[in-house]
Amino acid sequence: HEIDAAQHNADKGEFKHYMLKEIYEQPDAVARTLEMALDSDEPTKLRDDFLQRHEAQLKGIKHVQVIACGTSYHSGLVAKYWFESLIRVPCSVEVASEFRYRNPVVIDNSLVICISQSGETADTLSALRDIQKQSPVGLVSLALCNVPTSSLVRETDVFLPTLAGPEIGVASTKAFTTQLAALMLLLLKVGVIQRRMTDENLRTLLGQLQQLPGQLHASLHLDAPIKVMSEHFEYKKSCLFLGRGLQFPIALEGALKLKEISYIHAEGYAAGELKHGPLALVDKDMPIVVLAPKDSMFDKLKANMQEVHARHGELFVFASQSSQMVAEDRLHVVYVPDVCETLAPIVYSVPVQLLSYHVAVMRGTDVDQPRNLAKSVTVE
Ligand code: G6P
Repeated sequence: HEIDAAQHNADKGEFKHYMLKEIYEQPDAVARTLEMALDSDEPTKLRDDFLQRHEAQLKGIKHVQVIACGTSYHSGLVAKYWFESLIRVPCSVEVASEFRYRNPVVIDNSLVICISQSGETADTLSALRDIQKQSPVGLVSLALCNVPTSSLVRETDVFLPTLAGPEIGVASTKAFTTQLAALMLLLLKVGVIQRRMTDENLRTLLGQLQQLPGQLHASLHLDAPIKVMSEHFEYKKSCLFLGRGLQFPIALEGALKLKEISYIHAEGYAAGELKHGPLALVDKDMPIVVLAPKDSMFDKLKANMQEVHARHGELFVFASQSSQMVAEDRLHVVYVPDVCETLAPIVYSVPVQLLSYHVAVMRGTDVDQPRNLAKSVTVE
């Protein structure tokens, strides 16, 4: 055991925790995952061998059903926005623990995507097995998974790997961003073989994906300013994360990360829902984190921020470099590198991970192994 512990410590290298190491591994992990479908010598098309064996199956699907738990569920929520807005394929997303017990209708010709870092999550596996028992017409099951030898991979028709490498920290980081990257690749594949995407749209997205590892790398430079920002959270009891559109799932993920490792109560909310409840919580003591890239929802989000500010809430905003948001009293800003709207959820994952990490370290919690939680939940 001593040797194991020493070996593990060595694996952490210069990093104090696995979680921080894994946050820093994201540019490489995402680049590796993208290489499954992208070829820098062929910047205008997907690699021929990407999911080639499954083309006939993917050609027939008319609906996507995502099933997952925890952080993996949040990557599914981003996929819903992508599938519906970019290639007009209807997509439903549900936590496996609910899906499996409500006798759900599985539409014919569904692609069922089970997203799981471990591939051993009991609820996700059970939900999959229940669907397979119903055997709807044209069912295609796909495992988006980080462990090739897992039960989930064995029991599905298609395996789409995330090439994150082993993830040790209980709070998922690089598994999440590689899931998002792989989901985008899958969307492109479906879009191309079902002719739901123009060559020009494909070229644009491929070009944007090529830039992604570099943008993730640049976002790691936010570590120092976010550490300074995190000092405001040390003694807080409760925190709100806001986002709209593609950033709504990242608000949920940011809140999950903060509660998992710092034990501060946190809620993620769609900013447009503020008026329907959370505005009542706003006072000078509750920090409000806002994911505010300069995208099609930015003006609406700015109005939401003003509502909070007018009620003496303290805002901590992750904004685009080009947004020209200026810090003022009770408004703190960290500038995130500019990134296209579609891929912004992947880049904005990094600052929320870093924020929860630094808050947790300051509060002295066990960052890599938070109390009461497990890396892989293999029992109900
Ligand atoms: C646990 C882990 C989370 C993870 C979730 C789903 O709760 O602590 O980090 O997101 O399980 O796990 P999976 O392996 O299915 O992605």
